[in-house]
Amino acid sequence: MTLAPDSVRSMFDRIAPVYDVMNRVMTAGLDGRWRRMTAAAAVRPGNRVLDAACGTGDLAIADASAGATRVTGLDFSERMLERARRKAAPGGCTIEWIQGDMLAFPFADATFDAATVGFGVRNVADLELALRELRRVLVPDGRLAILEITQPRGVLKPFFSLWFDRVVPALGKVLPGGSAYSYLPASVKRFPPAEELAALLAECGFADVRFTLLGGSIVALHTGRAS
Ligand SMILES: C[S@@+](CC[C@H](N)C(=O)[O-])C[C@H]1O[C@@H](n2cnc3c(N)ncnc32)[C@H](O)[C@@H]1O
Repeated sequence: MTLAPDSVRSMFDRIAPVYDVMNRVMTAGLDGRWRRMTAAAAVRPGNRVLDAACGTGDLAIADASAGATRVTGLDFSERMLERARRKAAPGGCTIEWIQGDMLAFPFADATFDAATVGFGVRNVADLELALRELRRVLVPDGRLAILEITQPRGVLKPFFSLWFDRVVPALGKVLPGGSAYSYLPASVKRFPPAEELAALLAECGFADVRFTLLGGSIVALHTGRAS
């Protein structure tokens, strides 16, 4: 099941009030650590950083805490951005929140030193276009870090399948707006496995592409350098 961009945007508008709580529950509180690792992989002190598909802003704030001087959080869901705007930026960093589409960033080429995306590329209508846009707005040698749910593997696979296919959608149903969490298992199944995402990043202009599996292999952190 692939949702049209308008449906994805209205789904996240509906989810916004419960999004942060669901993140903590779904990841058993590990998402904060994963976001800090993602920020550390991409951001260097003094960088201008783009956090694409920023949602409620937690990864953009992690980028700021990692030493960026200017962070731009971009998302197409106004309700998600409203939540982000309520959060405080760490001292010494300016965060601007922009409503926009990551398939056509409203930025000139080579605007950012680094870019991060947290749980965002799985939801875009055209993954290759999104990766090429990320490459376009990075300076040469600019760093990209992508944190995303991946198809579980290994001994924990049955546990993760039960968790994401059954428990998370059921939890979503008891929270206001959370019924959209039934979309999550399908979106993970149709998303490329970590090796394929790494190959696509290389095709889209990134060098030194690597990935690390986290959380017992349910999440992948991909990194690359704009070549
Ligand atoms: C699962 S949330 C992730 C939010 C946040 N990055 C995080 O780490 O929690 C996915 C976000 O991607 C946004 N999104 C999906 N497609 C988009 C697009 N084409 N342009 C901008 N934002 C998009 C949604 O609005 C949503 O806020």
